[in-house]
Amino acid sequence: MAKLALLTSGGDAPGMNAAIRAVVRSATARGLEVIGVRRGYEGLLTRQYTPLDSRSVANIVHLGGTVLQTSRCEEFKTKAGRAKALHFLKEARVDYLITIGGNGTTHGATALQEEGGIKVVCVPSTIDNDVYGTDYTIGFDTAVNTAVEAIDRIRDTAFSLERLFFVEVMGRDAGFIALEAGIAGGATEVLVPETPTSIDGLCTLLETSFRIGKKSIIVVVAEGDVPGGALEIARQVKKQTAIDSRVCILGHVQRGGAPSAWDRILASKFGLLAVEALLQGKFGVVVGEVKGEITYTPIRLAFEKRKTLNSFYLELLKTLSG
Ligand code: F6P
Repeated sequence: MAKLALLTSGGDAPGMNAAIRAVVRSATARGLEVIGVRRGYEGLLTRQYTPLDSRSVANIVHLGGTVLQTSRCEEFKTKAGRAKALHFLKEARVDYLITIGGNGTTHGATALQEEGGIKVVCVPSTIDNDVYGTDYTIGFDTAVNTAVEAIDRIRDTAFSLERLFFVEVMGRDAGFIALEAGIAGGATEVLVPETPTSIDGLCTLLETSFRIGKKSIIVVVAEGDVPGGALEIARQVKKQTAIDSRVCILGHVQRGGAPSAWDRILASKFGLLAVEALLQGKFGVVVGEVKGEITYTPIRLAFEKRKTLNSFYLELLKTLSG
C-alpha cells in the first residue's frame, strides 16, 4: 500500500481542516495509507506522525485553524534541517507528500522535491491569497468576510461621530485582503503595497471628502503598505491636516473562525485534486483554479512569481469611493 504524508504549515487559515478531510477521504478511497504530520515542517523533524483514516477527519469540515496544527520552523529552512526531514520521510517509507499552506510552505516543498526527490503536491491555503497559480487560496474568502464584518461595525460608530477610521488588515506584503475588503466594505480609499501611497494625495482626498459632505470615512490599510501600518499613516495625516482619526488593527481575528462555504468547497476541491494529481504522476505542482479552470503550476514557479492585484478591482474601488 503506498503511503501519503499530509501536513499543514505556516499561518493557519480557515478551510485547512476541510482540505485535510478532503485529502484523507480521497486518498483512503483510492487505497492509499495516510499519515498526518503534526506541527508542519517541525513535525517532520521530530517524527510527529498520526495515522489518519476516514473517521479521524469526521466533524472537522466546519472548524477554523488546523487539527494537525502548524508551525513556522527555522530549522527546516536550513539544508541540514531538510536533510534530516528527508531521512525521516524515507525511514517512514513515505511515497507521497501533500502540503497545505502558503508561499513558505510551497518553498519548503520545493526544496524537499529538489533535494530529495520527494513526490509532492501543494494545496494553496493562506488568508493572504498571495500564491501565484490560483485566483483564490483557501482561507482568503473567510478572512475577507471577517474584515468586512468588522468594517461594517466600525462604520456605525464612524458615522455617528463623523470620524475618519483607518482599518488595518493582514496580508503580509500583499494587498488582496485590503482590496476586496475595501470594495465590499465601501471604503473611501485602500492603501496597498502594490501601488505607491502618497500621503499628500491621501490628505487631499480626505479633506475633499469631508468638504463634499461625507459623514464618515473608512480607509483600509494593508499591513504591508510602504509608509508603515495604519498607526503611522494616521500619525502622518494628523501632522499634515489636523484631521483626527481612530485606528483599528484587525490582526489575528482575521485568521480564525469557521470557514465560509466558499472556502470549504474550494478546500474540498483542492484536496481531491491534489490526491488525483499524485496518482496521475503530476508531481511538484500547486493545484489551483484560474478563471474557473483547474491548474497545476510547477511549485518553483508558484513561489517565485508574484501574483498581481486585479486591476479592474483597483479601478472599481476608485470609481465607487466618491
Ligand atoms: O500569512 C498569514 C499571516 O496571517 C499574514 O497575513 C501575517 O502577516 C502573518 O501571517 C502573521 O504571522 P504570525 O501569526 O506568525 O504573527
